[in-house]
Amino acid sequence: MTNSVNIAKKRIVVLISGGGTNLQAIIDACKDGYINGEVVAVISNKADVYGLIRAEQAGISHAVLSHKDHDSRESYDQALVSKINSFSPDLVVLAGFMRILTADFVQTYSGKLLNIHPSLLPKYQGLNTHQRAIDAKDNEHGVSVHFVTEELDGGPVILQAKVPVFSEDSADDLASRVHQQEHRIYPLVVKWFCENRLSMQNEQAVLDGNILPASGYAND
Ligand code: GAR
Repeated sequence: MTNSVNIAKKRIVVLISGGGTNLQAIIDACKDGYINGEVVAVISNKADVYGLIRAEQAGISHAVLSHKDHDSRESYDQALVSKINSFSPDLVVLAGFMRILTADFVQTYSGKLLNIHPSLLPKYQGLNTHQRAIDAKDNEHGVSVHFVTEELDGGPVILQAKVPVFSEDSADDLASRVHQQEHRIYPLVVKWFCENRLSMQNEQAVLDGNILPASGYAND
């Protein structure tokens, strides 16, 4: 296994659209040395979100790039690529970035673009995952971290965490239970990447030289 001490710190750009609790978990994990990396910029497609205040408080460059200023998805994503590239990232982390990405964007960062999705993929791609798990009377739910490919919420899973669904749960109850697991698994996956232990090869996630199964490193 590679010794992280000998590897230059990775430059991480985080994209957000909201409160940024996952962003915070990654910032904290970088600051305390758990992740061999540094969040060099935070970019939001929405102004007035708390995630930007988190970046400000941590002394991290931050910017708003509003999709409303662009008349097409292609135009927005091109501007986003320019902005991201100005920070020379090694890794781009989607942390509640609620945009569908163009194929060009995804290809630009192929193998260094991570997303967290609040379901046990391939279940419940898209929105309203917690309510859908409740409506389906699932007794377990969870979260997945995956590499991003052109298929929406369809890239290879790296790590999942499961939570129980209780009979009285509201979508908010379930979301907060899932959130706790998000803050545990996203920093771990970013840590692996920043230690050169994790890569995407032939659209499969590879950790320490081993191709990960479809449900990622841990599924129970
Ligand atoms: C998280 O629950 C994340 O899984 C979800 O947005 C939330 C962001 O929370 N992402 C998606 O739904 C992506 N399809 P945060 O802003 O507190 O990190």
